[in-house]
Amino acid sequence: MDETSPLVSPLQDSIDYNYCQSEATGPRTPGSVVRVSAGSPGRSRERQPLLVRDRGNSPRDPHRNEFPDDPEFREIVRKAEQAIEEEIFPEIICQGSSGSYFVKDSQGKVIGVFKPKNEEPYGQLNPKWTKWLQKLCCPCCFGRDCLVLNQGHLSEAGASLVDQKLQLNIVPQTKVVYLASDTFNYTAIDRVKSRGKRLALEKVPKVGQRFNRIGLPPKVGSFQLFVEGYEDADYWLKRFEAEPLPENTNRQLQLQFERLVVLDYIIRNTDRGNDNWLLKYDCPMDTERNWETDWVVVKEPIIRLAAIDNGLAFPIKHPDSWRAYPFYWAWLSQAKVPFSEEIRDLVLPKLTDPTFIKDLEEDLYQLFKKDPGFDRRQFHKQIAVMRGQILNLSQALKERKTPLQLVQMPPVIVETARAPQRANSESYTQSFQSRKPFFTWW
Ligand SMILES: Nc1ncnc2c1ncn2[C@@H]1O[C@H](COP(=O)(O)OP(=O)(O)OP(=O)(O)O)[C@@H](O)[C@H]1O
Ligand SMILES: [Mg+2]
Repeated sequence: MDETSPLVSPLQDSIDYNYCQSEATGPRTPGSVVRVSAGSPGRSRERQPLLVRDRGNSPRDPHRNEFPDDPEFREIVRKAEQAIEEEIFPEIICQGSSGSYFVKDSQGKVIGVFKPKNEEPYGQLNPKWTKWLQKLCCPCCFGRDCLVLNQGHLSEAGASLVDQKLQLNIVPQTKVVYLASDTFNYTAIDRVKSRGKRLALEKVPKVGQRFNRIGLPPKVGSFQLFVEGYEDADYWLKRFEAEPLPENTNRQLQLQFERLVVLDYIIRNTDRGNDNWLLKYDCPMDTERNWETDWVVVKEPIIRLAAIDNGLAFPIKHPDSWRAYPFYWAWLSQAKVPFSEEIRDLVLPKLTDPTFIKDLEEDLYQLFKKDPGFDRRQFHKQIAVMRGQILNLSQALKERKTPLQLVQMPPVIVETARAPQRANSESYTQSFQSRKPFFTWW
């Protein structure tokens, strides 16, 4: 564990968890979220140019994509880098409000989705005009005041981390990666510099060799593995209405749906429309005949869910009631079914284990602190919201509520504070809408 982690106080055994009432006033909206101050300490670092001290392929390159604990992921990113070297460039995804790219391998097969930080919905280099227009015409409504701006790539990777820790297995693996490509949106200056360096290398190799990096500067962003054969949930849900699923398959869908609810609720996703989760429905047409017994085996259809587009999560406060960013799945019929034993058994033991929660927070800290705009105070607020969500979710699971009842629970935030007087105990106070605090132990 990193010494500088803000999550571990020197008085680790005496952390006081102080539950505060959320600022949100609309507990009846499905789910609920704080403005990032313009003068936050991370911002000055954020604006500093990236200093590239090493050549692109040097092992000391700060933008080298190394994942020592995940060689499979490293291999996929290596294939993407190789393809870009062969000029098989990532392709912008036309739909959507930001710069997101389908990344290919050398054969042109899509293997990942890359979302550069500076092309995020509210990034300086977002190539889509809709956000530019919004910034121009309606600056007061620009951005989501409950989210840290330009942290979408971290939110994507954070969602994947939460997914893996809880063994939900619904988020295609996502990590923070550096890529450079001609097809990304660069400033004219970056392009001119890159062309100039290339020219210098060709004309005066001795001078050119002194440049640290010849091509365009790598962009930091989230890289999510591409999942094949999936369609928007919207599409499938409409089809299933017209052609109801067999009972077993419907049950499978319900169990996968519950995993989505758990993920979204914990990370407090503010962008979960039914176009931001995908379904794969494999309905085998063929049947197998066992010639010895003369039995015909009918294969069960298989349904799988993929939770994509997790870039607008991990808010620093619950959303205001006038912009509640609801979970759109709360209006589906699946949200009216009580949580299953399966999801309870999978996540409740983890969510009620303080060590698990601390580990999760520490992993998120290690991920988020790599961003030059990282701000501890904001991170604490993000964690306070997440803890509140986990508290509500645990209660809902224990009481066998439905996902709809879960999103109707009053939002809670859990703040941590040092309490030297309470050594050797981890305790917190909590107050809901009633403002009546009561004490409990984690
Ligand atoms: N991991 C993935 N595997 C397969 N397809 C994907 C994946 N990620 C995204 N897509 C496809 O690309 C489309 C756009 O992706 P996504 O919603 O993440 O991008 P976006 O730019 O954030 O869009 P928007 O702003 O509209 O939400 C999705 O609707 C989906 O069809
Ligand atoms: Mg989307």
